[in-house]
Amino acid sequence: MKVVAIIGSPRKRGNTDILVGSILEGANSQGHNIEKHYLYDLDIGPCIDCRKCQADGHECYAKDDMEGIYCSLRAADVIIFGTPLYWYGASAPMKAFIDRLRPFVSSRGLEGKKAVVVIPSEEGADACSHLMGMFKLSFRYLGIELLDSILAKAYEKGEVAEQKDLIQGAFELGSNLGLTVK
Ligand SMILES: Cc1cc2nc3c(=O)[nH]c(=O)nc-3n(C[C@H](O)[C@H](O)[C@H](O)COP(=O)(O)O)c2cc1C
Repeated sequence: MKVVAIIGSPRKRGNTDILVGSILEGANSQGHNIEKHYLYDLDIGPCIDCRKCQADGHECYAKDDMEGIYCSLRAADVIIFGTPLYWYGASAPMKAFIDRLRPFVSSRGLEGKKAVVVIPSEEGADACSHLMGMFKLSFRYLGIELLDSILAKAYEKGEVAEQKDLIQGAFELGSNLGLTVK
């Protein structure tokens, strides 16, 4: 099974990275193929609504780092969407990434794939309801099944590592992905 993680935080070893990393460690411990992409390291331009991707071939107009990500997503069984909460929404690179999923609307290329959402925030789970709503509606539109989410309360860089139960839970979530995805 292949697990592809998309990280929308600028902070390496920050809260999103640590939580997603624990899920991936768990998946890796069961022999799954894991991959992690840091959006802040990539050149991913905006969707310009040119509708080229809705024609035959479903190809995006833009030739940038999203080309490699498209290949990874097509091969993925599980996609992890990790983003810090920024103004009750996703970080800007995560939003740009989601906009660029548009070719999968017409190709149905993500249909049947599974997703996990990870969102750390200063205020905690209640503050994430709008962002979770966005993910749920977008997954429904793309035919993706949401398996689970981790909505952690953490503010300083790496602070989430102190929440041992949460880190263990993230590891177990990753270890059990093979049981959830059949
Ligand atoms: C631009 C910006 C906007 C933020 N907006 C919110 C917010 O609306 N609600 C909240 O609870 N935390 C907010 N935060 C705090 C982050 O979500 C929090 O520090 C998170 O743990 C960062 O995750 P990271 O370490 O993975 O980058 C914001 C932080 C930044 C930099």
